[in-house]
Amino acid sequence: MLDFLNIRIISNLPYLKETQPVNASKAVSLCFFVFCNFLEPLSDLFQHKDEARQTVAKFSLRKPSHPDDDLCYIIPGEADSLAACTFNSTSKTFLVIHGWTLSGMFESWVAKLVSALYEREQTANVIVVDWLASAQNHYVVAAQKTKAVGQQIARFIDWIEETANMPLENIHLIGYSLGAHVAGFAGSHATNKVGRITGLDPAGPDFEGEHAHRRLSPDDAYFVDVLHTFTRGSLGLSIGIQQPVGHVDIYPNGGSFQPGCNLRGALEKIANFGIFAVTDAIKCEHERSVHLFIDSLLNEQEAAKAYRCGSNDMFDRGMCLSCRKSRCNTVGYDISKVRKARNVQMYTKTRASMPFRVYHYQLKMHFSSKVNRSEMDPSITVSLYGTKGEAENLEPKLKEKITTNRTHSFLLVTEEDIGDLLMLTFKWEETNGWSASNMLKMVSSWWSGDSDSSNMEVHKIRIRAGETQQKMVFCVKDAEAQNSKQEVTFVKCKNPWRTKPQGTPKR
Ligand SMILES: *[C@@H]1O[C@H](CO)[C@@H](O)[C@H](O)[C@H]1NC(C)=O
Ligand SMILES: *[C@@H]1O[C@H](CO)[C@@H](O)[C@H](O)[C@H]1NC(C)=O
Ligand SMILES: *[C@@H]1O[C@H](CO)[C@@H](O)[C@H](O)[C@H]1NC(C)=O
Repeated sequence: MLDFLNIRIISNLPYLKETQPVNASKAVSLCFFVFCNFLEPLSDLFQHKDEARQTVAKFSLRKPSHPDDDLCYIIPGEADSLAACTFNSTSKTFLVIHGWTLSGMFESWVAKLVSALYEREQTANVIVVDWLASAQNHYVVAAQKTKAVGQQIARFIDWIEETANMPLENIHLIGYSLGAHVAGFAGSHATNKVGRITGLDPAGPDFEGEHAHRRLSPDDAYFVDVLHTFTRGSLGLSIGIQQPVGHVDIYPNGGSFQPGCNLRGALEKIANFGIFAVTDAIKCEHERSVHLFIDSLLNEQEAAKAYRCGSNDMFDRGMCLSCRKSRCNTVGYDISKVRKARNVQMYTKTRASMPFRVYHYQLKMHFSSKVNRSEMDPSITVSLYGTKGEAENLEPKLKEKITTNRTHSFLLVTEEDIGDLLMLTFKWEETNGWSASNMLKMVSSWWSGDSDSSNMEVHKIRIRAGETQQKMVFCVKDAEAQNSKQEVTFVKCKNPWRTKPQGTPKR
């Protein structure tokens, strides 16, 4: 059984496809990647009909002093239970909703999120919704139960609104994975709209492409914000939903390959060690959404920014760092509740661990030359020096080949705040299609200020800092002295606005 599943899973990975036997069967396609209970026979899938009616959600009001313990349950219909649990009806109320589970136990992030919520909102009611009994099924079954569980939560919300006379804008549902869709059903079935739903990497399988009524959607609360951390189309399926499902959908690191999770490495190991080699990395990426949210609660002063962008590719070119007309927003708890008619998709980069915030820079430069050259694929290294520190040897990813007389734009990020930018160095090394001697020649004379030269030149670098929204222009420092060096230093131009504009389209 295990081997059979592994084969099926491996056959989903494009780079392993060639070397592995492909034995995909319809029956096993019910099993979505790690969303399968490997150790149970599939026939279990069909034995849950009797349990359909007893989808039970329990509401545990956790205490700041015991974020991990279920000490007091609020029981819908029993008003006394509110007082018994010291429910504060004038405070914010959070409902934390877990996702699908293999173990049948709360995962460790639950207590961390509860703690972080109390850290930020001391008088809040943080209620953990326990639907473990249903969530513990095979993924497909658990996914089917999200609606019934959501409806139960909706009845709880209706009851609490009436009993505690509580304004619903004080209610914030936070759902992870399948729990995000549970929150969506809860919101859409509640009589009145709740204030906010945060979807933390809402589950993809069985929900991607579904009608808005059958998944989390902007209609489910006054404001719906979503963090996507594990969306990937290339595997033929995505653990986290790819499509935007809220008012604001943020895709940290493009919504995939979260730094520090080493998913790429794990995927390569899968052939040797089977699916279990990969589960930690997958969990790391999927759960990153929760930790980004926790980060935003704990590190209010270091809130990460996300930027509206048409695509992740454009973001990776640094083309979307504007904050005009609410084009940027805060990641996580302190997000501004911007409600547009259409979904807003935003992007950000992160560090590998808390605090996740980075500093984004766009570098725009014009490569000029007398000789037509195109399809250059150099490796570029940039170091930034600022008033508070430096970030050395950063390597912007080139999203396109470099071409003569074109303006190219790159994204650079620093993990530390380097303050105001004072100076930068720029290094270019040709990698493809050039012999070693050509390369040396190229490097040594590339920066020549000689106008007869046939070499590529960069005279200015335009920089936009996302976090400060500062725009700067940097010029080559002392062009003559650079002739024999492959690293060139740029400093702030003395008269940046006097030079005539570049004859290339603005992007
Ligand atoms: C209930 O919450 C409000 C504000 O949210 C706070 O002022 C009040 O002290 C709280 N009551 C108790 C008993 O903690
Ligand atoms: C690039 O632009 C410069 C200045 O406009 C011009 O002199 C040069 O011939 C152009 N190079 C090519 C290859 O067209
Ligand atoms: C460079 O190429 C462009 C189009 O590919 C052409 O219009 C231009 O005349 C060329 N310039 C030189 C200097 O060869």
